[in-house]
Amino acid sequence: MSESLSGQREISVPRHIAIIMDGNGRWAEAQGKPRVVGHRAGVRSVREVVRLCRESGVDALTLFAFSSENWRRPEREVALLMRLFITVLRREVKMLQKNNVRLKVIGDITMFEPKLQQRIQEAEARTADCTGLALNVAANYGGRWDIAQACRQAARKVQRGDCSVAAIDEAMLQGLMSLSELPEVDLLIRTGGEQRISNFLLWQCAYSELFFSDVLWPDFGDDAFAEAIEAFSSRQRRFGQTGAQVSQTG
Ligand code: FPP
Repeated sequence: MSESLSGQREISVPRHIAIIMDGNGRWAEAQGKPRVVGHRAGVRSVREVVRLCRESGVDALTLFAFSSENWRRPEREVALLMRLFITVLRREVKMLQKNNVRLKVIGDITMFEPKLQQRIQEAEARTADCTGLALNVAANYGGRWDIAQACRQAARKVQRGDCSVAAIDEAMLQGLMSLSELPEVDLLIRTGGEQRISNFLLWQCAYSELFFSDVLWPDFGDDAFAEAIEAFSSRQRRFGQTGAQVSQTG
């Protein structure tokens, strides 16, 4: 946090924001509607937050769309969510291209039906050359899955004789984790009033600031976003140092 010449506090914008978009079901149920109505309304908030990130100069946005645990939901809700993902990918890809947004899906997508896998690959390919906001959608993703897949890759390197066991360190694993090409997550937002990480980006959030909002995801817009950025901006990020050390180095 710093003061500008005019005496106004400058807002520091996170380079990478991750969001657990919670509360769709409750939003719909509160109106006596099926839960899928909440998921559809949640897509509007996704569009809004992509716009807000672009306008604020955020480099990367990572959204938790479907966790590896979400398969436990009622079969009908899972099927409707899959259909929604297919529709959204087809419908939004032009808008992403137009706005220079690069889409990437992280997670084990081999579990999805072939049509959805194909849509994901098409959307990624069509936006691959975009140089603006990096939009990552976590689908069939789990933080523990991510760490395990990185370890498997490291083990294969050892098996092939490319490196020794002793060479497996944090830097190597970091390079093998999802999103390794991006800055680490600065700010993790969870909407919907719960305060937990739910096996999201466990490795990548090691030093993230956490912001929990009571707003249900379909209601997340300008005000809630501004509140999260303001809260982030007022935090002192110490990365293990003391407050005095951080103040000295600015
Ligand atoms: C959590 O709310 C939300 C989900 C599991 C689905 C999120 C999906 C979207 C917003 C739609 C599309 C997104 C993309 C990026 C394609 P919940 O159902 O757990 O809500 P509850 O806690 O109120 O039950």
